[in-house]
Amino acid sequence: MALLKTSKLVSAVGAFSPSLGVFPSRASSWWSEVQMGPPDPILGVTEAFKRDTNPKKMNLGVGAYRDDNGKPFVLSCVRKAEALIASKQLDKEYLGIGGLGDFSKACAELALGADSEVIKSKRNITVQTISGTGSLRIGSNFLSRFHVLKDAYLPKPSWGNHTPIFRDAGMQLKSYRYYDPATCGFDFTGALDDISKIPEHNVIMLHACAHNPTGVDPRPEQWKELSEVIKKRKLLVFFDMAYQGFASGDIDRDAWAVRYFIEQGHNMLLSQSFAKNMGLYGERVGGFTVVCADEEEAKRVESQLKILIRPIYSNPPMNGARIAATILNTPELRSLWLSEVKDMADRIIRMREMLVANLQKEGSTRNWQHVIDQIGMFCFTGLKPDQVERLTKEFSVYMTKDGRISVAGVTSGNVEHLAHGIHQVTK
Ligand code: LMR
Repeated sequence: MALLKTSKLVSAVGAFSPSLGVFPSRASSWWSEVQMGPPDPILGVTEAFKRDTNPKKMNLGVGAYRDDNGKPFVLSCVRKAEALIASKQLDKEYLGIGGLGDFSKACAELALGADSEVIKSKRNITVQTISGTGSLRIGSNFLSRFHVLKDAYLPKPSWGNHTPIFRDAGMQLKSYRYYDPATCGFDFTGALDDISKIPEHNVIMLHACAHNPTGVDPRPEQWKELSEVIKKRKLLVFFDMAYQGFASGDIDRDAWAVRYFIEQGHNMLLSQSFAKNMGLYGERVGGFTVVCADEEEAKRVESQLKILIRPIYSNPPMNGARIAATILNTPELRSLWLSEVKDMADRIIRMREMLVANLQKEGSTRNWQHVIDQIGMFCFTGLKPDQVERLTKEFSVYMTKDGRISVAGVTSGNVEHLAHGIHQVTK
C-alpha cells in the first residue's frame, strides 16, 4: 500500500502510526510503532515465578491467600454457596447494569453496617463491579466525568495499580506522605502536614484497612485527626476497602474508619473487593458505592453510573456475585464465612511471628518488629531493590521490587527458607 499523506487521512489513522502519521506500507506491520511494554510490577512476578524450576521457590508477589500447605484456598462457605446455587437451577439472563440487587445491598451493608443511617435514608448508590480494580476504575471514570477538579492524592506508596487506574481514567495523580522508611511505620506527621496543604475540593484516596503495600494502618485516634483535617480542607474522600476482615479477622473492626468518616459527614466514594476476604479472586466480585447528600441525588448518580458502565462491559458477571450474596444473606453461611476470614487473618499473623522468630534463629540482629506490627496480607520488609534481586536470584523467593512480601504465601513449611534467604541478603 502506498504511503498516504492527506492530512484528513493522517489524523484518522494517527492512533495506528503516531510518530509517522501515515499508513504503514504493509498490512503485516500495522503495529510496527507499538513499543514492548514492561511486565506488570505485581502480576509479572508470578510469570517469573512460574518459569523457575527450583523446588524451594516461593511466590510472595501477588496478594493471594495460601493455606499452610502453600495451596490456593477455597473457603468452605464458598463451596456450600456454590452447591446451593447449583441446586436452584437458576437462569443465565443478563444482570441489570448495576449488577445483582441482592449482592449490592448486602455489599453496602457489610461496609457501612446494617444499621447505617446512610442505608436507611437511601442516600447511597451501590453497584456491583468487576472486583476492586473495576470498582476503582468506575469510580475514577465517574470523578473524571463529574468532579470539577482532576487531581487525586494517593498515599505514598499506594497499591501499584492505583496510578494507572486513575491516570487512564483521565485523573492526575498527586501524593501525600504515608510511610516512614525510618520506622517502617506510619508517617502520621508527614501525612497530616501534606494533607493540610491539599487544595480544597480535591480527591484523597484512603486505604480503609491493611494498607497495600505497606501493611501500615493509622490507629483510631490518628484516623480521627485525619478525618478532621480532611474535613477542614473539604476534600472528597475515596476509600479503597479491599481487605475487610482480612486485617484483624473482624469485619466490623476493619470497617471502622469508613464508618467513622461517614459519621463525621464525609460523603465518600467507596470501593470494595471480595477477592481476598471470600477468596473469590478470579470471580471478580466487588462493589462501588457513592454516599450522596440524599436519595434524590443518589438516583441521579445511579443513572450516570449506568451510563458509564454500559459501554464498558454492559453488565457484570453473575456467578461470583451470586456466591457472595448467598454467603452474606444466609445466616449459617455468613457465620461460617466470618470464622474462615478470621482463620485466614490469624494464620497470616502467626506467619509474621514465625518469620521473625526464624530470622532471630538465623542470627539476624536487625530489628524486625515491623514485620509483626504491620497488618493484613502484606509486609513491607524494608529490603532494598538489590537485596530483593539477590533473594530472587539466589533463593528463588519472588516478591515485588519495593520489598513487599505477601505474608499469605508464607507457610510453616517454607518460613525457614525465607528467613534464611532474608538473613543472607541483609546481614
Ligand atoms: C496485590 O496487590 O498483589 C493484589 O491486590 C493483586 C493485584 O491485582 O495486584
